[in-house]
Amino acid sequence: MQGIKLDISGTEKFVSKEKLHEMEDRIFSAHDKIQDKTGEGKEMLGWFDLPSHRKEEEIERIKSCAKKIQKQSDVLVVIGIGGSYLGAKAVIDLFADSFANMKSYRQRKYPEIIFAGNSLSGKYLRNLIEYLEDKDFSINVISKSGTTLEPAIAFRTLRLVLEQKYGVRGVAERIYVTTDENKGILHDIAVKNEYERFVVPDDIGGRYSVLTAVGLLPMAVANIQIEDVLDGAQFASYLYNERSLETNECYQYAAMRNILYEQGKRIEILASYEPSFQYFIEWFKQLFGESEGKNNKGIFPAGVNFTTDLHSMGQMIQEGKRNIFETVLNVETDRSFISLPSLDVDEDGLNYLAGKDIDYINKQAFLGTLKAHIDGGVPTMVLNIKDVNEYYVGQLIYFFEKACAISAYCLGVNPFNQPGVEAYKKNMMNLLKGE
Ligand code: PA5
Repeated sequence: MQGIKLDISGTEKFVSKEKLHEMEDRIFSAHDKIQDKTGEGKEMLGWFDLPSHRKEEEIERIKSCAKKIQKQSDVLVVIGIGGSYLGAKAVIDLFADSFANMKSYRQRKYPEIIFAGNSLSGKYLRNLIEYLEDKDFSINVISKSGTTLEPAIAFRTLRLVLEQKYGVRGVAERIYVTTDENKGILHDIAVKNEYERFVVPDDIGGRYSVLTAVGLLPMAVANIQIEDVLDGAQFASYLYNERSLETNECYQYAAMRNILYEQGKRIEILASYEPSFQYFIEWFKQLFGESEGKNNKGIFPAGVNFTTDLHSMGQMIQEGKRNIFETVLNVETDRSFISLPSLDVDEDGLNYLAGKDIDYINKQAFLGTLKAHIDGGVPTMVLNIKDVNEYYVGQLIYFFEKACAISAYCLGVNPFNQPGVEAYKKNMMNLLKGE
C-alpha cells in the first residue's frame, strides 16, 4: 500500500500546469539514464534495485549480529560520518522514544545507540570515553573508503578503550566493521583481526547506502524491522519507476524543484512538524547537497523543525528574500493520544482548546503556516506520510533517493560523485603533515 502522497497544489500560484508538462522530456531523459545505466555516474546505481536484490543470507547475518550486540552490550557506538551514519541515525530517531537514550535498557528494550566519529571534537570523544567507562559496549565502525579521518580517529581511540576492557580476544567479539569488500585500511584491519565484516557495495555511494548494512545493522539493533523497511523501499522502487510525469509523484517533485530553481528559488527548505524528523532532514540535506551542489549549480538544501523554528526562521521564510521554496513532511496519523486538559478556572485562557488533541493543534499550525507561506510568496509542496511505520519509511527513503538522482540529472550534474569534498581534506592533511 502506498503511504506517501505528494501534494503540489501549493505551487499552483507560481508554476502553471503547462510549465510542469514542459519538463516531461528532461524527466524522461533522466529516467532513461537511470533505467538504461547511461548517465554520468552510471557505475553507482546499485541503490536503484537494491531493495529487490537484497541478499537474504546477509539480512539474516545482520539480524543475528544485532541480537548478539543486544545481548552483550549496554551501548552500541556507531562510528561513521556523512552517508556512513546519517541514514541510520535518521531512521532510528523516527522510531525511538523521544527520551530513548535517557531510559534504561529494560525500558528501551535495546542498547543505547551513540554515534561517534562524525566530528573532530576532542570534547565529545573525551566525554564519550568517560561515559563508556562503566558500561559494556560494542562498536560498529562504518567507512566505505576505510580512510576517512574522523571515523578513523574515533575507531583507533575507542578500540583501545575496548582492548583495555576486554583484552584483544574479547574485542574481536565486539567490533563490527562495515566497509569495502576487498580493499582499504579498515578492510585490512578487519581481516587481520577477524572482526565480523559487512560490505558497502562498490556501486553504492555513502549517501545512498542507508538500505545496505550501513544503515540496517544499527537499525536492527534498535529493534527496527529491517525487512519491512526494505519491503517498503521495494514497493516504492516499482511505483516511482513509472515513466510518467502525470502519475509519478517522485518525478513531479524532481521536476518542480528544477522549475522553481530556474525561477530563482535557490533554496529548498525541508520542514517537519515532528522533532523526531530532525535527522531525517539532515539525511536529506546530505543526499541532495552532495548530489546536486557542483559545477556552480545546485539547490541549497536547508531544513527546519516546526513549530520550534517558526520562532527563529519563520520571519525569514515569511518575509525574507523570495529565493526559497518549501517541502513539508506531514505525518497524518497521531499515536500520541494526548489532549489539552480542561480547567475549572480558565486561568491561562486555554479552555477554548480543552479536549483537543495536541496533534490537532499541531496540524492547525501546519495548515495556518502553509497558507501564510504560500501567500507570502513561498511555493510549497507537501509530502503526506500516512504513518511512521517501517514500510512507509522505506518508501520515504526511496522516494527521496530516486527524486535526488532524477533531479540532479535534470540539473545537468552527476548525482553520484562528490569531488568538492576533497578540497578541505587536502588542506587539512597538508597542515597535519606539516607540508
Ligand atoms: O555520501 C558520501 O559518499 C559521503 O558523505 C561519505 O559517506 C562520507 O564522506 C564518509 O565516507 P566513508 O564512508 O568512506 O568514510
